[in-house]
Amino acid sequence: EKGGYDHFMLKEIFEQPRSIADSMRGRLRADDAHLQLGGLRNYLDKLADSKRIVIVGCGTSWHAGLVAEYLFEELARINVEVEYASEFRYRNPVIKEKDIVIAISQSGETADTLAAIELAKSKGALIFGVCNVVGSSIARATDAGAYTHAGPEIGVASTKAFTAQVTVLTLMAIEAAQRKGTISEELYRQLLIELETIPAKVERVLQTAEKIKEIAFIFTYARNFIYLGRGLNFPVALEGALKLKEISYIHAEGYPAAEMKHGPIALIDEDMPVVFLATKDSSYEKIVSNIQEVKARKGRVIAIITEGDTLIPTMVDFVIEIPKTHEMLTPLVSVIPLQLLSYYIAVMRGRNVDQPRNLAKSVTVE
Ligand code: F6R
Repeated sequence: EKGGYDHFMLKEIFEQPRSIADSMRGRLRADDAHLQLGGLRNYLDKLADSKRIVIVGCGTSWHAGLVAEYLFEELARINVEVEYASEFRYRNPVIKEKDIVIAISQSGETADTLAAIELAKSKGALIFGVCNVVGSSIARATDAGAYTHAGPEIGVASTKAFTAQVTVLTLMAIEAAQRKGTISEELYRQLLIELETIPAKVERVLQTAEKIKEIAFIFTYARNFIYLGRGLNFPVALEGALKLKEISYIHAEGYPAAEMKHGPIALIDEDMPVVFLATKDSSYEKIVSNIQEVKARKGRVIAIITEGDTLIPTMVDFVIEIPKTHEMLTPLVSVIPLQLLSYYIAVMRGRNVDQPRNLAKSVTVE
């Protein structure tokens, strides 16, 4: 049932061109500029009209929420806060009229996320869900929602659920923006066209798996890792570090690249691998100087770069190229090499990739 793959995780990583396409199917048609999330149809005015969105989730789902924060703010100009469900539920959070809560959960059974929803509900918030499991507790507890159509995710480490969540949240942000009039018709069309090309771009990253495997071989016995990114690639850095921790048991941390000089830079020496998300986008120049800071301290740099970049390959130890896409859609492509890197490192260390120690697929206790 692993479809010829050694592990469910690898199968699920390779399924992403399809699971991303499935999460858009019936919702998006770029050629006639059509976008509609059926489950939210009656609530879109409320979404566009909202003063604030509070996103709740745990783990990888929380990272998808951080990506969505950039999207809703940039495209729809809505103020967004992203909360760990476990923290939100034990505070006395301020929920006002016209606030919308979006709960993100692959399993739909995460206890903290469910409790956060119940709390927000008791304060009168409208709750949307982004879940993968149809009919799950969280899906049932929300007022409306949009399912991710990633299909069953068996590997404990979340991969295709993350990209499906980001896909659906992107559709929501674009739809809200269009309804609000905060993006031009031209940008709206451009984003839809770009979205349709994402599955093929993910496929191209998957074709570089052998090269990523070679890099994994070199770093198999590293004891620590740092992941750095800026903007939309910051949550991707967090997700890359989480994937590595979970399945290889290597200590890893993700940071916004500019935060490095406020502390983590003290860790950099010739034994410290640093993974940079260094795609050609609005923070490219800044990332290049962050790379210089790490190289000046002899850190070993693996950079995820945009195809055709000729500068960064001259500065770093290893590069992994990914196709260019619209900046807003970058995480869908840039996370793929990080998933593969963690997978291969964990396999080379002989870890139980699909069922890492101490972890459960759905965390139904707090
Ligand atoms: C990471 C991972 C966990 C989950 C988290 C939330 O790979 O699997 O961090 O993302 O437990 O789970 P869901 O999305 O089911 O609420």
